[in-house]
Formats: sequence, C-alpha cells, structure tokens
Amino acid sequence: MAARFLYGKPVAEKVYAELKRELRELPFVPHLHVIRLGEDPASAAYVRLKARQARRLGIQSTVHALPEETPEEELLARIEALNQDPETDGILVQLPLPKHISTARVLEAIAPEKDVDGFHPLNVGRLWSRGPGVGLDPCTPAGVMRLLEHYRVPVGGRRAVVVGRSNIVGKPMAAMLLHADATVSLAHSKTRDLADLTREGEILVSAVGRPGYLKPEMVRPGAVVVDVGITRVGEALVGDADPGVAEVAGALTPVPGGVGPMTVAMLMRNTVLAAKRRRG
Ligand code: GUN
Repeated sequence: MAARFLYGKPVAEKVYAELKRELRELPFVPHLHVIRLGEDPASAAYVRLKARQARRLGIQSTVHALPEETPEEELLARIEALNQDPETDGILVQLPLPKHISTARVLEAIAPEKDVDGFHPLNVGRLWSRGPGVGLDPCTPAGVMRLLEHYRVPVGGRRAVVVGRSNIVGKPMAAMLLHADATVSLAHSKTRDLADLTREGEILVSAVGRPGYLKPEMVRPGAVVVDVGITRVGEALVGDADPGVAEVAGALTPVPGGVGPMTVAMLMRNTVLAAKRRRG
C-alpha cells in the first residue's frame, strides 16, 4: 500500500493565516534581521525565501549580505548593535558560517530573546529542561511537530527514531518528541546496526542530507516517515528517502513540499512571538 503524503504547504498556510490575524492586532511592525556571509547560492536562496515570506506577511525584514572574509569581530559587533536596537525583534545568522568564524561564539552573542533560530544555549537549555514554548524553539523540528499535530499523528508512548544529531534538527527534534511523550532514539553516523534501530521507529525522522540514504528495508511497515533531508541534485531538491520508502511507510513527508515550508512558517511565528514577548 502506498504511503499517505503529509504536505507542508497547507499547514504552513494555516500558520500564516493565524499570524496575519495576530499581526493586525499589534501596534507595531515586527522586524527580522537575517545575516549571511559569502556567496553560497543555496544559503542566498534560503535567505531570500525567508525575507520574501516576511514581507508577504507584513513583517519588516532586512538582509545583511556580508563578504565571506568578514572578520568575526565585525560580525559580533553587528549582532551587538542589533541586540541593543529596540526596533529589532529577530536576529538570524544563516549557517554554515565560513571556517574562520566560531559558530558557537556567534550563536552565543545573539540576545536570547531575539534568537528566532532557537540556537542560543539558553534557548537550547530551556527546550530540554522545560519543553517547547518556553524559550524560542528551533524552526525545523518545531515545524515537524506542528505537521504531526495537524495530520493527527499520535506521538505519546510511541517509538520515535531520529537519524542525525545536528544542533539544527536532530537534537532539538529528539527533545521535542521526548516532551511529547515519545520514546526517543537518536541515531547518527556511528550507530551500529542502524537499520535494526530505524525499523523500530513508529515515527522515523531522517535528517541526514544524503539523497536515497533511507532505504525501504530500514523502515517499519506503516511507519510515519518525516524526511528532513533536502539536497540539491542538479535542478531538483531531493530528500533522504529512497523512492521505495513510499511503498513501505504508512505516511511520508514529500521533498519538496513537506518539512521545508514548515521551517519558514515557524521562523515567522518565532519572529512574531519574540516581538510580542519583548515589546510586551
Ligand atoms: N542553515 C540550514 N538550516 C538553517 C536554519 O534553520 N537556520 C540557520 N540560521 N541556518 C540554517
């Protein structure tokens, strides 16, 4: 039996409708700043997408496109200026950063209340210790949770397996599933007998970023598969799931059109949330 597709677009549109209503009630216009370094075309495209969606909603957005060789101190100074600026609600530094810059230093420099990516250690700690919704939560896993909720995928008490342990997706995904009462395994490149583990997953989240990596024999029949991998292959965007996975899974998020739209929607949500909390 072929899997049911869990499309992200309609869910993202629902989030946007909610946000538009909230934005109409606000006596100010939230302002998001996105900083990127260098000329990586994929990063530039993602940043354009974020800025365009912000504008579409009536959120002000400013893109800071800085040269690849920008010194770390200069980037930190720019972040500090935005931290101090009362009109700035959200600050996002697009990753990955050039090698001469410490990602940890940069992420720790962003004021936690403006950290719309949810990557500052204070927000990471709040997520793990108190659960989602307390600080600002990372956008991609938050989008996955919203998607599961929308399609009424039960999470509590179920076996969830997350493949990939990045700070952007894998780790916060595990935290959110855990707080939703799933029994969570977090697998990675050093996991032994990976297929034995992934086949246990009633919910299987793949955040590896290698096209076709997730084979049908790694999937438990009927499982809900969330494909977070997005790799550009020529003109096409390709997920982690081999096409055969759709024949084994009970439900599957498509690439493109699954998790991707949710990530941007959650960034907009975080920006509005950060603005409301800070401007009170
Ligand atoms: N690069 C890939 N994903 C992300 C993300 O969610 N936020 C930022 N800032 N950079 C990324």
